[in-house]
Amino acid sequence: MAGMISTSTQATVDLANSPPKSVDALVVLVHKDQQADAPELKILPQSVRDAVVRLTESGSFRAASNQTVVHLLDKGAPAPRLVLIGLGNIASFSAECLREAAVATARAMREHRLKHVALVIPPVPDQMPGRPETQPTHPGRSTSVSALTLGFYLGAFAYTEYRGSAAKPEDIRKQDLALRCTLVTRVDAGAREALKEGRILGEGQNFARTIASRPGNDINPPRLAEVARELAKQVGLTCRVLDEKQMKRLGMGGILAVGSGSAATPPRMIVLEHNLSAQTRTAGKKRSRRSSAQPLLVVGKAITFDTGGISIKPADKMGRMIYDKCGGMAVLGLMYVLAKLKDPRPVVGILASAENHISDTAYRPGDILRMYNGVTVDVTNTDAEGRLVLSDALAWGIETYQPKAVVDLATLTGGVIIALGKNITGVMSNDDALYEQIATASELAGEQIWRLPLGDEQRKQMRGESADLVNSAGREASPLQGGAFLSYFIPGGDKKVPWLHFDIAGTAETDKVTALYGKGPTGWGVRTLVEWVRSAK
Ligand code: BES
Ligand code: MN
Ligand code: ZN
Repeated sequence: MAGMISTSTQATVDLANSPPKSVDALVVLVHKDQQADAPELKILPQSVRDAVVRLTESGSFRAASNQTVVHLLDKGAPAPRLVLIGLGNIASFSAECLREAAVATARAMREHRLKHVALVIPPVPDQMPGRPETQPTHPGRSTSVSALTLGFYLGAFAYTEYRGSAAKPEDIRKQDLALRCTLVTRVDAGAREALKEGRILGEGQNFARTIASRPGNDINPPRLAEVARELAKQVGLTCRVLDEKQMKRLGMGGILAVGSGSAATPPRMIVLEHNLSAQTRTAGKKRSRRSSAQPLLVVGKAITFDTGGISIKPADKMGRMIYDKCGGMAVLGLMYVLAKLKDPRPVVGILASAENHISDTAYRPGDILRMYNGVTVDVTNTDAEGRLVLSDALAWGIETYQPKAVVDLATLTGGVIIALGKNITGVMSNDDALYEQIATASELAGEQIWRLPLGDEQRKQMRGESADLVNSAGREASPLQGGAFLSYFIPGGDKKVPWLHFDIAGTAETDKVTALYGKGPTGWGVRTLVEWVRSAK
């Protein structure tokens, strides 16, 4: 296996003031109705601009979003090929268009076996004062550089750890091609910094995708703890891992019950600390006032495989439940990025990890659990396991670290896919200000969210008879039930902690190739979390 913190990305992005000699192709990003004599294309020789005009006028290239045309140039041109990528209408231009265009670039390179291309950065406002079509949301130059770099990394992602001796030579050639992209723009400190940020974000997200891609016979809770330990060592984080004995002493009845079916691969509470002062770590319980030393807390569901337990899932597509650890993977990606960027803010990440298995030691429907904060739960469905591992992690994490704010990410409910589909994450929150921060972060990151209600009605629905709560109250509004259940593990009243829950069941993984991702885990959340942390005061 290719090392514990592999990112499955053989890509390099660099900068140049003009296209280097000897590239395999020039890549030009074009808006609909853009003139070939536009000032930003002046950097290209006349012969190349003529080719752009011919391709456009012939109707072969309409500059529709992500339309990709690869064209051979004449001998004597600065490169053997021209790659045109469409940006769509300039009126709807945003950083997301550049992320997608860079993904399209990496895909075209694999398809046509291009090792090195020069990508001419499209018009940005600070290069074209007074251009009327420039929108207020039009990305500036550093945003353009980081969006293109990030997109190129996402597009270059190729998970090959389980390629075997019968792999198709053609696939091997494509996947193993190391891709280099030179961004042609004014090279200065701002551009260099933006490139570095884009690269680290891309690596962090692809690291999350790599670990997410590993199957259940490779990644189980103890193995995931090893990955986290190795990450901590490589990038400079502190890692602590609670094993099943420690969790038993602490009274974490939820995560222990879920993991009880797997004697050989027991549950783990995996904690990664970034920039935590010794004082924050030890004085947690005594401090009451909000201070800048208080960390942000990010908790992820990391079920390494979800069979459903005794309330077993149908066989069809059950294998996709290796992706039930993706909340935890987003936390891994976030911690990677914060450490690499040397971000000054204190942040704690927790991966609540268990396997949800079937065996004679597995927990049963009808079992009653006592959770870390003393709340009791009647298990009505062993397949509603995510909320049980998260509840212990949230209650323990909040008590131990006294965070300023806490967010959790979980592939929690199939219902959120029915409600919002595969491109929008459902969120619920007890705090409007925190929701607004996250909404801004998700917009900058290009990851869509939609707020769902967290109401008294749903909280009431989760109340039980023989125990305080039930873990599932049937199929009605199941995403809302999930959030309502979790809210019982977040302190309220004058101890209230701002909290937001992301249900990423739809967005964590895709079974179709999309504008940004190939089939498989997406690493959803890494970028939104990074934007959120970096916006925090
Ligand atoms: N991991 C699943 C949710 C899920 C379903 C994620 C499909 C991705 C795709 C979760 O543990 C689960 O089984 N949820 C149940 C809850 C129900 C039993 C209350 C669900 O949503 O069906
Ligand atoms: Mn489940
Ligand atoms: Zn699950």
